[in-house]
Amino acid sequence: MEISDAVIVVTGASSGIGEAIARAAARAGATLVLLARREDRIRSLAAELPGAIALPCDVTDDGQVSGAIRSAVNEFGRVDVLVNNAGQGLHLPLDEVDPADFRAILELNLVAPLVAMQAVIPMMRTQGRGSIVNISSGTTLTVLPGAGAYAASKAGLNMLSAVARKELAADGITVSTVYPYITATEFHQSLRAGARRTAPGRPIPTADTAEHVADVILDVIRSGAEEARLTPDGFAGR
Ligand SMILES: NC(=O)c1ccc[n+]([C@@H]2O[C@H](COP(=O)([O-])OP(=O)(O)OC[C@H]3O[C@@H](n4cnc5c(N)ncnc54)[C@H](OP(=O)(O)O)[C@@H]3O)[C@@H](O)[C@H]2O)c1
Repeated sequence: MEISDAVIVVTGASSGIGEAIARAAARAGATLVLLARREDRIRSLAAELPGAIALPCDVTDDGQVSGAIRSAVNEFGRVDVLVNNAGQGLHLPLDEVDPADFRAILELNLVAPLVAMQAVIPMMRTQGRGSIVNISSGTTLTVLPGAGAYAASKAGLNMLSAVARKELAADGITVSTVYPYITATEFHQSLRAGARRTAPGRPIPTADTAEHVADVILDVIRSGAEEARLTPDGFAGR
């Protein structure tokens, strides 16, 4: 997929990795459709990016997601790329996880990406091409105490993504999964519940920049690669 003439929908574009994807893709010549709940942030970002539009949207509301995709198509005639990036963490031992919080992150990290994929697939099929990138997490590649609920939501996304890749290949649609490692964004300050603690005696891992993760995601859109892992060598394992 050429970035330069693509219409790219980014969920969670109001901060962190989503904002960095939007800026990098716009620099490469793409037209951006920015989705998030914080309207002020996506409106001011859209004002900086040539041709971009901001569509305030809570991605856990199916009607708002399908409405936003309809608005994007009305505006630009097509959607070439969907980046399912909106997400939230939760860091608590499993016996302390409130089921209501678990349901909420499942809605956001697992159900919402499915609904967004369903909203773009019919049009991408008609176009005979498209790229969908699902933002997972390196926590799904290991077994990390405290990350069980969050990693479970993202592990479910991994499977949706892998199956969608096979189901949509014949339609010219690529589906890719990206596994960011620790990235310096608001994510760690806006957990649904709990807090990330470093184990005593272990160094605080160096965080990637959102800009670095965004560059990897743009490469995945270009190549249609099945996955990209940002985890350090030797990280995966149990
Ligand atoms: N940072 C890391 O270390 C790390 C590591 C691995 C994976 N990830 C994944 O990377 C993705 C991006 O996270 P980030 O690090 O960039 O964190 P972030 O800065 O906190 O960004 C999260 C984004 O999700 C949006 N969002 C949250 N709930 C939403 C909702 N209901 N509807 C629409 N948008 C919603 C937020 O926008 P609004 O609040 O404005 O709606 C925000 O733009 C997430 O899927 C996260 O799980 C992050």
